[in-house]
Amino acid sequence: MPSRSARTAAEFLPDTRDLDGLADAASGCKGCDLYLDATQTVFGSGSAGAEMMLVGEQPGDQEDKAGAPFVGPAGKLLDKALVQAGIEREQVYVTNAVKHFKFTLPERGKRRIHKTPGRTEVVACRPWLLAELDAVRPDVLVLMGATAAQSLLGSTFRLTAHRGEALRLPPLEGIDIAPGVAVTVHPSSVLRGPPEDRQQAFDALVSDLRFAAGLRAYPR
Ligand code: URA
Ligand code: SF4
Repeated sequence: MPSRSARTAAEFLPDTRDLDGLADAASGCKGCDLYLDATQTVFGSGSAGAEMMLVGEQPGDQEDKAGAPFVGPAGKLLDKALVQAGIEREQVYVTNAVKHFKFTLPERGKRRIHKTPGRTEVVACRPWLLAELDAVRPDVLVLMGATAAQSLLGSTFRLTAHRGEALRLPPLEGIDIAPGVAVTVHPSSVLRGPPEDRQQAFDALVSDLRFAAGLRAYPR
């Protein structure tokens, strides 16, 4: 019997690397406890031929209801940032490190409050992210926020120390890709910051995205 803490999405992964097949299998994932309270799995969206892959943290309230990533306020802000950076949303594959919405329901409250996923959930959900990477094989990978960055670059990775750097992935189990990697803040952090800082935070996000768009895959 695997111990409870060792549970991950791995046993739900199909053999296929077809995105629709992966999304279908992920809809039945019970790799951690987040499927219990969330509405549905929110898998990535975009074309398998996308040259750039963007990874966020986890679906929010609206994404959980809609079943699609980055359709709520953070998604709107991301769309605006992509336009300003000269990147078309249709050219990118967008996903999250964790595929179910984690939240708390404050007493008496009806509004579900976002809760940052823990290492257990990030590790449990990682097989889906790796499968997406293997399916899309992007030239450029943008990790938005500490959760996405730590999922692929290690739990001690410090995002703020590495903005604006061309990074690369460590060796990943069975996946032979070497995209150019950039890290940036999570779009919702721009919305959460003090209003007087928002423009600057937004501009920095745009500048990180523009930098990422200039990266290339490493020769293998
Ligand atoms: N924040 C995320 O990280 N992902 C989403 O899909 C929406 C908000
Ligand atoms: Fe599976 Fe990820 Fe959802 Fe957990 S969060 S149940 S690992 S899809």
